[in-house]
Amino acid sequence: MAHVCPWWFCYAFDNPLRRLVHNPEVMLAPWVRPGMTCLDLGCGMGYFTIGLARLCSPHGRVVAVDIQEKMLSALRRRAKRAGLSGAIEPRRCSEASLNLGDLAGAVDFSLCFWMLHEVPSLAGFLGQVLEATQPQGRLLVAEPRLHVDRKTFAAELTQAEAQGWRVVERPTIWGSHSAILSPRQSAAQSVDQPAAA
Ligand SMILES: C[S@@+](CC[C@H](N)C(=O)[O-])C[C@H]1O[C@@H](n2cnc3c(N)ncnc32)[C@H](O)[C@@H]1O
Repeated sequence: MAHVCPWWFCYAFDNPLRRLVHNPEVMLAPWVRPGMTCLDLGCGMGYFTIGLARLCSPHGRVVAVDIQEKMLSALRRRAKRAGLSGAIEPRRCSEASLNLGDLAGAVDFSLCFWMLHEVPSLAGFLGQVLEATQPQGRLLVAEPRLHVDRKTFAAELTQAEAQGWRVVERPTIWGSHSAILSPRQSAAQSVDQPAAA
């Protein structure tokens, strides 16, 4: 397996103090509405999954995907404590497959928070997320400035564009390089071909 964040290291950043700089509900509110289907990719122990589930409830859900079972079992416990087990589906993936075949074109919002640099094949990963995304869907990518330099992040965005994504916003997120992406087809339509009056 390529380098992945060990479960015990999650406690270094997944703790109550983090809310001072990354408040999930406040941060994600611009893009998430009740009823939406969301993905939390590389969800870890679910720091953002819980906030996402609150934002897309009622009637929405979060499919929370991680490659490590230990992360998912911590998330299950957290979701239960928060009374959100019904809105969260923890899902194990592998390096080769995100296991999203049942979600083709169904996802409204996806989050890749501080995880993309751990993915060995960006092309395969971003292609699978694109397939799961509905035409007006959004993907928020945030990478830690501590581990990922500006040039590497720019290269990740270039890869995403080669896979059919387009950068539509550059939000400001503490300690992170970040971008909002959308499937190129729909983003091109909204920017280049405004609907006729
Ligand atoms: C640094 S942690 C971030 C966790 C969470 N997003 C957060 O911000 O608290 C990175 C997570 O990505 C997961 N991960 C790494 N490679 C992955 C892959 N190819 N597919 C899915 N998850 C992966 C790791 O297991 C780990 O839980």
